[in-house]
Amino acid sequence: MEKRCLQQEILRLKREKGITVLAHTYVAREVSEIADFTGDSYALAKWAQGAQGDVILCGVHFMAETVKILSPQKKVYLANPKAGCPMAEQLTVEALKALKAQHPNAAVAAYINTTAALKTECDVCVTSSSAEKIIAALPEKEILFIPDINLGSYLAARLTDKVFHLFDGGCPCHKRTTVEDVLRAKEAHPEALFLVHPECPPAVVSLADYAGSTAGIMQFAKESSRTQFIIGTENTVVCHLAAECEEKQFFPLKEDLVCPDMRRTTLQDVLACLKGEREELVLDETVRLRARRCIDRMIALGG
Ligand code: 13P
Ligand code: SF4
Repeated sequence: MEKRCLQQEILRLKREKGITVLAHTYVAREVSEIADFTGDSYALAKWAQGAQGDVILCGVHFMAETVKILSPQKKVYLANPKAGCPMAEQLTVEALKALKAQHPNAAVAAYINTTAALKTECDVCVTSSSAEKIIAALPEKEILFIPDINLGSYLAARLTDKVFHLFDGGCPCHKRTTVEDVLRAKEAHPEALFLVHPECPPAVVSLADYAGSTAGIMQFAKESSRTQFIIGTENTVVCHLAAECEEKQFFPLKEDLVCPDMRRTTLQDVLACLKGEREELVLDETVRLRARRCIDRMIALGG
């Protein structure tokens, strides 16, 4: 079936069955075009709470887990069950317990890109758009931040009254960006502002005109009076911005700044889900309740 026919069939079945489709900003644009809501990790987590009916999540596994944790009464489906975030699984629960034992006075702050099992051992969750505000509000001086060393370093540089202990994990996609990539892109587009996600290495972030979450980058580009931007995050953001701000120009920091897991989800996956051909995501209730504490705290402190 060609793209338009697939999209129409999806929209028809979605209406008929009363199912909500949520998409992370990094999934292919043709998928986000049929979604009820597209956003970054924080926006998805909050939106899921108010969503009506069952939910199909187009994104990666930890995002579907987050929806299920917050909305246990709903049936939740991950459109492509093979889509996982490699960063979310870089630490085991046992390894985290060992780290906690080394830093008994630290509050454990987990990037939302972690498994539900890991969240059961954490004090608070954060996303890139909420992390600074949330960690600043914690009473503890010491912070054990998992798993992204780049986001952790970015926060440590801004929250200088806290003592950070970092785990050496990170996003394989953003981690590969280099200072050379930035210099090359700036030489090719000297008038462009450079906007970057803090999952990139600190040396790359230090060259940015703006650093922030996916949503922050998009908002900055839309509101800026400038017209050219180099985008230092997953390349779907370049597609969204080009489609939504036709009068401006957006250049990828590098052509292969692509998350293979976020690109797994296709329109055929969403259709298969709507036709009942995918397994519902199931979470152990004890894990769900324990993981929920740190997500609730994230929402309470993040606003
Ligand atoms: P945000 O959605 O918080 O910007 O994070 C980006 C990301 O890598 C999601 O997997
Ligand atoms: Fe995980 Fe990075 Fe892909 Fe986000 S972009 S899902 S952090 S691998």
